[in-house]
Amino acid sequence: MDALPWYEDLSPGRGTLPPRAWYAGSDAAAFSLNGSWGFRLSPTADAEYESFAAPDFDASGWSAITVPGHWVLQGKEKEYGGPAYTNVQYPFPVDPPRVPTENPTGDHLRRFDLPDGWPADGRAVLRFDGVESCARVWLNGTELGDFKGSRLAHEFAVGHLLKARDNVLALRVHQWSSGSYLEDQDQWWLPGVFRDVTLLHRPAGSPGDFFTHASYDHTTGTGTLRVDCDVPGRVTVPELGLDLATGEAVTVPVEPWSAEAPRLYEGVLTAGGERIPLRIGFRTVAVEDGVMKVNGRRILFRGVNRHEFHPEHGRSLDLATMREDVQLMKRHNINAVRTSHYPPHPAFLDLCDTYGLWVIDEGDLETHGFQDLGWRGNPVDDERWTPALLDRAARLVERDKNHPSVVVWSLGNECGTGAGLTAMARWIRDRDPSRLVHYEGDRSCADTDLYSRMYPTHAEVDEIGRRADEGPEARRRLPFVLCEYAHAMGNGPGGLSEYQRLFETYERCQGGFVWEWIDHGLVHPVHGHGYGGDFGEEVHDGNFVCDGLLFPDRTPSPGLVEYKKVIEPVRITPGPANSVRVANGHDVVDLAHLAFTWSFLADGETLATGPLDVPPLASGASTRVTLPTAPAHPADAETLWTVRALLAHDTAWAPAGHEVAWGQIPASAPAPAPRKATGARPVRSAGRITLGPAVFDARTGEPLAVGPLPVTGLRLDVWRAPTDNDEGAPWQPDDRHGPLWRELGLHRMRHRLDEVVLEDDSLTVRTRVAPAARDFALRTTYRWTSDGTALRLSVEVVPEGEWRVPLPRLGVRLGLPAALDRAVWYGAGPGEAYPDTRAAARLGRWEAAVDALRTPYLRPQENGSRVDTRWLELTSGSEGVRVEGDPAFAFTARRWTTEQLDAAAHDTDLVAGDTLWLHLDHAQHGIGSQSCGPGVLPEYRLDAAAATFALTFTPVAR
Ligand code: GAL
Repeated sequence: MDALPWYEDLSPGRGTLPPRAWYAGSDAAAFSLNGSWGFRLSPTADAEYESFAAPDFDASGWSAITVPGHWVLQGKEKEYGGPAYTNVQYPFPVDPPRVPTENPTGDHLRRFDLPDGWPADGRAVLRFDGVESCARVWLNGTELGDFKGSRLAHEFAVGHLLKARDNVLALRVHQWSSGSYLEDQDQWWLPGVFRDVTLLHRPAGSPGDFFTHASYDHTTGTGTLRVDCDVPGRVTVPELGLDLATGEAVTVPVEPWSAEAPRLYEGVLTAGGERIPLRIGFRTVAVEDGVMKVNGRRILFRGVNRHEFHPEHGRSLDLATMREDVQLMKRHNINAVRTSHYPPHPAFLDLCDTYGLWVIDEGDLETHGFQDLGWRGNPVDDERWTPALLDRAARLVERDKNHPSVVVWSLGNECGTGAGLTAMARWIRDRDPSRLVHYEGDRSCADTDLYSRMYPTHAEVDEIGRRADEGPEARRRLPFVLCEYAHAMGNGPGGLSEYQRLFETYERCQGGFVWEWIDHGLVHPVHGHGYGGDFGEEVHDGNFVCDGLLFPDRTPSPGLVEYKKVIEPVRITPGPANSVRVANGHDVVDLAHLAFTWSFLADGETLATGPLDVPPLASGASTRVTLPTAPAHPADAETLWTVRALLAHDTAWAPAGHEVAWGQIPASAPAPAPRKATGARPVRSAGRITLGPAVFDARTGEPLAVGPLPVTGLRLDVWRAPTDNDEGAPWQPDDRHGPLWRELGLHRMRHRLDEVVLEDDSLTVRTRVAPAARDFALRTTYRWTSDGTALRLSVEVVPEGEWRVPLPRLGVRLGLPAALDRAVWYGAGPGEAYPDTRAAARLGRWEAAVDALRTPYLRPQENGSRVDTRWLELTSGSEGVRVEGDPAFAFTARRWTTEQLDAAAHDTDLVAGDTLWLHLDHAQHGIGSQSCGPGVLPEYRLDAAAATFALTFTPVAR
């Protein structure tokens, strides 16, 4: 067989300059080649000759494409093919390093004149910040070389080829290359020149590279700065009065850099005729006694995994979007990012330095698709690939090494094990011993400084926290992080609070990174946002690509709101005798940046508010603060305090007044249960029974109206449209509840009417609720009473037979007129909550449009439940119904049935009907995280058991 073409050989490329520290370049010295480029797509790598690279080539017949951008997301109606989503599997036959003949190939052309005033010294480099999956490059007809490594920067020396006018830059990009085998990350396959293309002027003798070493000694409060550079130069830091030679070290008093106090010092490196801006953050990363410390303090990652994603532009993000990500993270108490699973656009790391986020910077490397093949042929275990792996390691470290936010290097993700990884780790350690090395896939931890896992159960984390885990002794001495946990797919994740408790209990458990930051739903002409399979892919992994804390349009999901509360860096909890306990959980800063307030609530209504004096506690300290005397309030009201910690001043990421943390402290016992509503006599006539405000069908005992409102289909309700976490991942054990529920028929329960009994003061309906083909059931009795004004329903449920699965939910559902469009309630809100996702729900009086109660998960599923509801009013204008619970209940109101919700594949499939379906739940099963991780914790299971609950309905007329 002939030698392989360049895009299939194992080499990382030819003709590129050695990797070096990235910086933007001054305006005068950097010329962006972003914009409209000529574009031609061919179906195979060799369908067209390379003659297009010749300067006189006539490209007038070509179309235009925007750079940066992915071609599959441009053009009209799939003109340029489409995106494809796979998780683990390669979307082509696995025969490394060969790729399929069908190899979409994008030829790109850009003509440009040099800007006026561009130095004529013939010194310049051309930089590509990201091209998927490889590129061969020509300038003015001369071939510069080629490269692989999609999310890595590559540069070529081009000064000698540049002309003042009419330069022609030509690029041939193949979707598939040998590099694709190293880039099997769980995401869309999106070819193209998706990051910036820049021409940089580099004067003769300018540095090849520079490395800022800025450590901090917490025992003396001093920082030591040394900037290494391959050409001699000077370093100035005016704020510190520093002017020193490159290679020289100086120690001075400084403020350290941390994610909480991201103190940066501006400096300049002048070397070889270039002035290079420096942004210096002093900090020292170390492992001491099995604990990761920065500047002498243990840090706790409250992290997320971030893929670069935009619903229209894929992985091509503009600065505003990157900034939005960082600001949203900071506003949600997130302090760390793992750049899963490749180095991000360098500007993102600048933002992390500026705003303050700890970063695990990950190499562009994943070979997960070999797992299904028993790891046969895995590139990380085949030395022929080692140069390509080392190239990736070097391009990661060299590009990003001057960012103080980067505290950990990660070799890559899900590659199994092999000598190639060891070689990468060795190279990184040698080049930069100032940071830790991470890789999750090797349980021996031979090459890593952290023990890292994804999706372990709480029990396992507990064991690891106690250093009681099995495995190599050396590993037990390492700090522990969850590089991924809490799979945020659809509704959920559940169980976050319990993980956080473990992180706050065990010194060794240094937090984790929720999987993942944003849903990768791509804008779709029919479905709103599409996921795997929606773009005609041959193989795909469905909606597994939608597992983020943000919706694709960056609206926070309830999961993010929950995470914010769970990881809040200040804990506000009840203290003894009218007091509150405040604990500062920050890693570094005191509480001086926060202002505390109290408010006093009676039956959910705020009666008074005021400031609360909290001393500026040091990190790790806690205190008791006395609350004021309770304001006057009705004697029988349920009362409580809400104490909030707000930003005292504007910050770069949120204005003053932004809420960082809160807690509620009960002041009195909960309000007494609603009145029993008994006494009225049911009256039977003409096939109807009238009881207080309600009318029933005398034969079935079903309510037909409450006051003026027609009611339909009131019955026991156990079904919910399974969440992604109910469904579980295919590789999970077979106790996944979604599939079991369906198998057992919980989605099609039959309601047998056994008896309708009319007594003096009540109407009783006895039923047996059970699925076809099964012999287990729920004996269900509805007992209706009234005091003439209110109608009380008490439901008694007694399980019969052997229930092998928990119930999805237990409550009643009923249909009401669609006109009811407003909800006002007193309960936990304002957002949705489930038994194990309810940390962020606080007691109060809330109000929302009915349509705003739902959460539009990309794949429709159970959503929108409001828990701990004392009472709810659903109204339209002046009419409506009030529901009170005994005990409190959870409610969900939506314009389609559970069955319709369950049947929908996309949010756009859901069409409002003429009934408002109201679910009044006594309980729901927890959510868990089984779409990838562990299921529902035992305490949140809703096992079938005898239960009674009551609901009181009162017509509302104002
Ligand atoms: C992990 C993987 C991630 C993602 C996640 C599930 O195994 O590292 O890339 O696939 O599972 O969404």
